[in-house]
Amino acid sequence: MAIAQRVRQHMQAASWIRGMFEEGIQLKQQYGADNVYDFSLGNPVLEPPAQFYEALHHLVTHPRPGMHRYMPNAGYPETRAAIAAQLARETGAPCTAEHIVMVVGAAGGLNVVMKTLLDPGDEVMIFSPYFVEYHFYVENHQGVSTVVPTDAHFNLDLEAIAQALSPRTKMVLINSPNNPSGVVYPAATIEALGALLRQKQAEFGTQIYLVSDEPYKKLLYDGLIYSEVYPYYANSIMVTSHAKDLALPGERIGYIATNPACADGPELQDGLSFANRTLGFVNAPALMQHVITQLQGVTIDMRQYARKRDLLCTNLAAMGYQFVKPQGGFYLFPRTPIPDDVSFVKALVQRRILTVPGSGFGTPGYFRIAYCVEDSTIEHAFDGFREVAREYGLS
Ligand SMILES: Cc1ncc(COP(=O)(O)O)c(C=O)c1O
Repeated sequence: MAIAQRVRQHMQAASWIRGMFEEGIQLKQQYGADNVYDFSLGNPVLEPPAQFYEALHHLVTHPRPGMHRYMPNAGYPETRAAIAAQLARETGAPCTAEHIVMVVGAAGGLNVVMKTLLDPGDEVMIFSPYFVEYHFYVENHQGVSTVVPTDAHFNLDLEAIAQALSPRTKMVLINSPNNPSGVVYPAATIEALGALLRQKQAEFGTQIYLVSDEPYKKLLYDGLIYSEVYPYYANSIMVTSHAKDLALPGERIGYIATNPACADGPELQDGLSFANRTLGFVNAPALMQHVITQLQGVTIDMRQYARKRDLLCTNLAAMGYQFVKPQGGFYLFPRTPIPDDVSFVKALVQRRILTVPGSGFGTPGYFRIAYCVEDSTIEHAFDGFREVAREYGLS
């Protein structure tokens, strides 16, 4: 057997997502890509904003000596300073370059944070529905994931969290706006979570880090104000990227930001830089660091996602689908009309509509639609969504 048993097991556990992906490729070959309505991946259809191309163009036409060389593992000081200045405006905290580590996307950043914080057997609390990769990241660093379900509206259930926190809990990992539910946690929830974690830290005599995975932070609808974690909890760490807000997922550029109020801040920063190096990332991509230094405060045009959300929600609601209307991000997570979400998703595949069953996010009975696709893909899928709705008795 060539590959490690654990890797084999994990690949099998996620195999039906891969199965869906492969089925999609087959369907596209058979019917043509335009006749397959692929909502399975969070790969944004929007192009990066004009400012991205301007900054990139300026860099390649005005190259600076050494701009492609190695650099400090935490990234360029000027990039980190630009991010810190933006974060100081957003959070009100006295952030400086010393609180920022540039990383290879939010996925790289989460692995760096876990490598830095986790001893074998340490617990990482995650909330269902969850981003499925969390389990694999926790496992990468010999942690144990503790899954706590959210409430009926996909908000955090403080009582359930209080029950599940233990002296081994090292990290509580939240994601808002949420993939897959589209929910944005209100400030009151973050405040109550902060108070609970402080209480549990005191009770256990431990340190519990609140890690906020925020790649969708700028993707908010209806004028919603984002609830930052820094004001409510000192031991908090943000992990984010420009994959979604600048539509650059393939460029792998993100950062970790530690709350200036974090305990043992300088040691934590050194640990993060060390983990970034020794996980083999070494540093985040140089060219993209130069580019995004100029783009703090720039975001893709959210009106386009708002239009897609409204188009999808209005039509699916009229067909009888039930869901929480997304407040952020670009995912919709409706209930399936039958408990068996995998069968339901297969029925959609029969209509050449690709989605992901809620089981993939630890929440059977739902399915996820990634609506970061062309409007025409959404519109052309309505007939299929309607047929399946009728077949399963939705009005
Ligand atoms: C919740 C969540 N966290 C992290 C990531 C990884 O983001 P990145 O592409 O920046 O690594 C994603 C990507 O879809 C995500 O949905």
